[in-house]
Amino acid sequence: MIPPRLAAVATLLWLAASCSATLLPGLGALGAQGRRGMEVVAEWRTVDFVYPSRVVRESAILTGEFVPKNVVVLDVDAYGEGKHQRIFVTTPRLKPGVPATLSELSIEESIVSPKLRPFPSWAWNEQGDCDNLISVFRTSVDQCGRLWVLDSGTVNVFAGADRVCPPKLVVFDLRGRDGAEVVARYTFPKEQREPTTLTITVAVDVRGPDSCRDAFAYVADVTEPAILVYDMRRNRSWRVLSNLLYPYPLHGSFKINGAEFDLMDGVFGMAVGPVMPDGDRRLFFHSLASVRESWVSTRVLRNQSNFADEPIPAVSRLFHVSEPRRTSQAGAEGVDANGVLFFGLLSENALACWNTRLPYVSPNLHIVAKDDKTMQFASGLKVIGRHVWMLSSRFQNVMVGRERPDEVNYRVLVAPIADLVAGTSCAVPGGPLDNLVEVDTGGPLFRPPSAAYGGLSPSGFGSSSSMYFGSTQPSYGPSGLHDALHSHHGYGFSQYTPHPRPGANTQQPSSYHQQHHGSGSGPSASGPSGSGFSGTGPGDSIVFRDPVDRF
Ligand SMILES: *[C@@H]1O[C@H](CO)[C@@H](O)[C@H](O)[C@H]1NC(C)=O
Ligand SMILES: *[C@@H]1O[C@H](CO)[C@@H](O)[C@H](O)[C@H]1NC(C)=O
Repeated sequence: MIPPRLAAVATLLWLAASCSATLLPGLGALGAQGRRGMEVVAEWRTVDFVYPSRVVRESAILTGEFVPKNVVVLDVDAYGEGKHQRIFVTTPRLKPGVPATLSELSIEESIVSPKLRPFPSWAWNEQGDCDNLISVFRTSVDQCGRLWVLDSGTVNVFAGADRVCPPKLVVFDLRGRDGAEVVARYTFPKEQREPTTLTITVAVDVRGPDSCRDAFAYVADVTEPAILVYDMRRNRSWRVLSNLLYPYPLHGSFKINGAEFDLMDGVFGMAVGPVMPDGDRRLFFHSLASVRESWVSTRVLRNQSNFADEPIPAVSRLFHVSEPRRTSQAGAEGVDANGVLFFGLLSENALACWNTRLPYVSPNLHIVAKDDKTMQFASGLKVIGRHVWMLSSRFQNVMVGRERPDEVNYRVLVAPIADLVAGTSCAVPGGPLDNLVEVDTGGPLFRPPSAAYGGLSPSGFGSSSSMYFGSTQPSYGPSGLHDALHSHHGYGFSQYTPHPRPGANTQQPSSYHQQHHGSGSGPSASGPSGSGFSGTGPGDSIVFRDPVDRF
């Protein structure tokens, strides 16, 4: 149901809200019933750019500067409302022939293959100058009207990955006169990078329109797993390490719509939750090669002295991971003002939600939209106002080198949150932050042996799982907290038997490398084959809490 021409996205959003009542067929494990889909507001087979003239475009094609089939759209962002709404998309330089890496859409022309207008200009997108935008995977618009552009500085990730420039952040003020004034620019220093660092995702933490300068950005390094924290006011950054940022070995194999590949990608999806009553926010994150969700208080991340030298055990225990798992790997994610997390489920071609007030267990994870044709591989996902925006890219085909330029590959999809979550435990009654309590079903993955194996209950939720709640006990939706807490056996944990391995006093040495297969890697670079896990075992070592086959 795609009208050929529509005046503005506002109209499209209105349509999405009023006329799409498609019922979806059986949704499998996560058990949602009939759901509306997401509305496609732009789609492309291959993309084209707005060139100054036809001659310039044709010569770019002749010289190989522009190879249409090599341009992959990866992320989407939007700013403003109604007919002043501006939409941005990224096209990282994964292969040669990508003339610009960040663009704005001229969507009013047509939702079918709207041309990309390089942002903020063609000049900014020229290669060869590290002040320019080299290869942007993802962006983030903050509540101060600024577009945070994370430039990986890395091109040709499918052919050796050339790190032609250091990774950097460039922040544009979208409200100014020309709507593209640079208000900050920061290059991550050498000592915070590793040889194969690849920065792909940025989440911005601003505490309100009155404190725009007090912003922090959290940047995901997917191949040398780490979060880079940038403190805008102090103009400094630091590197944060945690075991939970690594790929999980048994979830490094992907099977998406018939495409099978291995990709040991670490931290990938990230989203900053709303401000909680205690003034703190949580950063949610997950590795691409994983089926668990993690989170850490931003208070921990924002304190640079927590990450001075070696990881401090007390600090690493402040990183949490869900014990239960989702049904497949997830791509990008975003969280709304109510604390509801939205994420793409890659094997299911679906959008799912989790109300972060409730435990991360399957009754609280809902598929809220699914379409096997239009929602393949959510590589971009944003919560913008009261809507979820998704960029689906069929990236699995890029991974296995089976691109189909004759099919629609890239889509921008939008849906109102209220429609998506209706009837699920993601629909939060009351005001945005009522009852936003700290719920922790996970606890740190790695613990001292005594805690790890001292008291596992038959359900698998042993005494080593911290599960504590705030003062209020919310019970939303069909499956409230109470149920979730008291029927663990219903979620597949009854068969849990711990198998501590001999010599399980193991920690991940800093030499841990991910292993790459095939010729390349998606949003990630190829890297050396690594030794995997091996114990180095100093006295104060930490241990896998789970037997390795529970990853
Ligand atoms: C921020 O720090 C970087 C490097 O440490 C420096 O090059 C840059 O000039 C600083 N920017 C501002 C606005 O002070
Ligand atoms: C920051 O971290 C250090 C070291 O972990 C700690 O001593 C200090 O109290 C923290 N500061 C704040 C404001 O939390």
